[in-house]
This record gives sequence, structure tokens and C-alpha cells, in this order.
Amino acid sequence: MSEARLEAGDPVVLVDEKGRYFYDWLAPGGHSNVRGDLVSHDEIIGHGDGGTVGSRRGRTYRVLSATLVQHVQHMPKHTSLIFPKDAALLATWGDVFPGALVVEGGLGSGALTLSLLRAVGPTGRVVTYELREESVNRARKNIRALLGETPNHEVRHADIYQGIEERDVDSVILDVPEPWDVVPHAAAALRPGGVFASYVVGTTQIQRLVIALERIGCFALIECLESLVRPWQVSARSVRPDLQMVGHTGFLVFARRTAAEPRAPREEAPTEPVDEVEAVPEEA
Ligand SMILES: C[S@@+](CC[C@H](N)C(=O)[O-])C[C@H]1O[C@@H](n2cnc3c(N)ncnc32)[C@H](O)[C@@H]1O
Repeated sequence: MSEARLEAGDPVVLVDEKGRYFYDWLAPGGHSNVRGDLVSHDEIIGHGDGGTVGSRRGRTYRVLSATLVQHVQHMPKHTSLIFPKDAALLATWGDVFPGALVVEGGLGSGALTLSLLRAVGPTGRVVTYELREESVNRARKNIRALLGETPNHEVRHADIYQGIEERDVDSVILDVPEPWDVVPHAAAALRPGGVFASYVVGTTQIQRLVIALERIGCFALIECLESLVRPWQVSARSVRPDLQMVGHTGFLVFARRTAAEPRAPREEAPTEPVDEVEAVPEEA
């Protein structure tokens, strides 16, 4: 079994005897303060993944490299971000494959980008449009900590509502406030068969986005879904769902680009009024 070495800058988790973990980034000369107990990073750097380290109070911790999920849960956040449960669905329902060209809207803290970069792999490319320059440096730090250098990632400091430069794109994946404004640009950028995917936080946003996808006339198989992940407590004494879970994060909207020509805005299909609730038949 080959043993990976933990390096300075790596995100790791220190697991105590009770199975609780503490997340940190390794720094030469640095220490992790685990509930008042100090663990020296110099005793971890250069050692194998999954080994043990002693603390100043004589406790022993198991040291593991952080997974993508652990990293995203604990890395510095300067924007709201997409939870790994939703990022996993965006990558799979968004049909992101090794070698794919993906355009992402909204870099934020880089959480979704991490999953997309892993999914496209070294032969693929993720091009992320981001308005705010300060986001870029912070997100890049988060990405570099887990993935190292990423030559398969390009950031465009540009407004995705104004257009997408790339063509023959396999997937367009969005986390921006008004994704319906990107629909015509996604239609122009995606290859026939390509996938449009968007994360949206509210129900009125889903409705507005779906209407925009329908009206432009070149998307099919429009789907909306949400994911609920329920952790379970399993021990010799009991097996039951955890008392707490993340109730709501956001909704996911997907659509396939067909070969049809997009309709110009004035030719778009009229839509039924959207704010009328269908009457529920009374029970007999
Ligand atoms: C909620 S954050 C994205 C979080 C990211 N998906 C993550 O998982 O960390 C939304 C980002 O979209 C950017 N943004 C908003 N409107 C945009 C636009 N029109 N073009 C490009 N980026 C935009 C914001 O600056 C912000 O960084």
C-alpha cells in the first residue's frame, strides 16, 4: 500500500478517541488548538496520511487528509456556498465528465468549482465567470489548498449576464442571483445535447427560470429537484436518524440543449399567467 505524505498547506482532520474531528491547514511551525490541547504541525508534515500524532497533553490523534466534503464544510467562506450534497448532484445531473468543457457562473468561495474541477479532470476545462475580483483570490486559495495548481481552471472577471464567450460547451452550471438572464447566453454557448444546470434558492426563482427555459424554445427535459440528506446515528445500542439535519439549501434546475434555434425575445412562446393557483376540486 503506497502512503501519501502530508505537506505544508494541506487541509487535514485530527480525529480524537471519541471520533470527533478537528479541521486545520498544516503550516510549518504551526499548531492546532483542539479544545485547548495543542498539536504541533511539524510532527505531522512529511508523515503519512492516516498516521497518529501526540498532543501536548499526551492525547493521541489520528491525522487524515481532509476530503472535499470536510474541506468545503470548514474552509474560509466569504459568500454563501453550495453544499457538497448539491454540488454532487450538479456534477452528475449536469453530466460533467472527464474531458468536458464546463462554464460556471459565480465563483463565490470556490466550493462548487472544486467538484467541477475534479469531475472534468486534467483533460477537461472549467471556465468560471465572476464579477467580484476579491472573490477570485479567496476562492483560489480554497481551491489550491485541496487540489494544488489547477491549469484546467480559468477565471473570467466578467458579467455572465452580458454573454458567454465559449462555444461547444458541454455544461453551463450557474449559481448567480438571476440565472434567467443567462438563458440566451447558455443557449448560444451549449452544444446540442449539452446540459444547462442552475442552483436557485427560492421557489419564485425556479418558476422564473423554468419559464425562461421554456420560452426560448431550444431546451427540453426541464427538471427541478432538491436533495435532502439525512444522517443516521448507528451504534451497538441504537440505530436512528440524527436529531439534526440541513433542512433546506436550494433547488436545482436542469435542461438539455436541443438542436432547435433559440427564439428571439419577441418570438418567444406566450406563457400562461404564473401566479394563479390551480383550484383543488372539493371532496365529494
Ligand atoms: C453565491 S456565490 C457562488 C458560490 C459558489 N457557487 C460556491 O459554491 O462557493 C455567487 C457569486 O456569483 C457572483 N456573481 C453574481 N452575479 C454575477 C454575474 N452577473 N456574473 C458573474 N458572477 C456573478 C458573485 O460575485 C458571487 O461571488
